[in-house]
Amino acid sequence: MSDLENIKLPVHVAIIMDGNGRWAQMRNLPRVEGHLVGMESVRDIVTTTRNLGIPYLTLYAFSKENWTRPKEEVNRLLEILGIYLEQELPLMMEKGIRFNIVGDLTDFPERIQKKVRDVMKKTGKNRELCLNIALSYSGRKEILHAVTGIAEDYKNGKIKKIDERVFSRYLWTKGIPDPDLLIRTSGELRVSNFLLWQIAYTEIYVTDMLWPDFRREAYLDALREYSRRDRRFGRVKEA
Ligand code: IPE
Ligand code: IPE
Ligand code: MG
Repeated sequence: MSDLENIKLPVHVAIIMDGNGRWAQMRNLPRVEGHLVGMESVRDIVTTTRNLGIPYLTLYAFSKENWTRPKEEVNRLLEILGIYLEQELPLMMEKGIRFNIVGDLTDFPERIQKKVRDVMKKTGKNRELCLNIALSYSGRKEILHAVTGIAEDYKNGKIKKIDERVFSRYLWTKGIPDPDLLIRTSGELRVSNFLLWQIAYTEIYVTDMLWPDFRREAYLDALREYSRRDRRFGRVKEA
């Protein structure tokens, strides 16, 4: 990792972990096998992020739209989430990782909600890395949820003005800086309803690699590329 010591790292990396199904299909395996191997990639990327000292990582694990998949696949994904929470808790505690959810947790069965809340509570004081998992997430729903909250608080006088800062406080990502880098695996050139408000000026990196193959080295390539980007935020490029 030595050549990364002197490069500009992002503060917040967001990842659309895509391609588990294709990875499995290419091997004539059921899609769930791709999700299981994808979980190994999650562990690798989380650990690498923590070791590099990047303070925020947000992983898109399940979208609101993903509920429309066959029941069997959804159930297996829920099962894998449960396994992940149980297996990874010791690592989170050891590595100082705080676990957080963005999305509609109430869409999930009670037992999953309980597990998620338990891990959030146990890891709540960890400070090395804030790991956000987007579950039953929809960027549009998040914006509507924020608008509803703002409308109420404006009416009852809790807020007097509505600007970008106030708006951000009503999002599920409250308190989390906007992503600097958005990575999408498996080559799709779309954002699939992910962090619509927050990615206004995020650098986008798409790789053809499928998520189960996306490990530390591929991640470091993305970070190197990010460090070479010229972020202008609408300004004129400096001479
Ligand atoms: C990403 O992989 C994981 C989830 C969306 C849950 P996919 O399951 O979307 O895999 P592909 O895109 O069909 O290959
Ligand atoms: C986006 O992947 C959601 C997650 C990675 C959880 P999808 O596979 O659901 O997105 P589309 O359908 O290709 O846009
Ligand atoms: Mg997909």
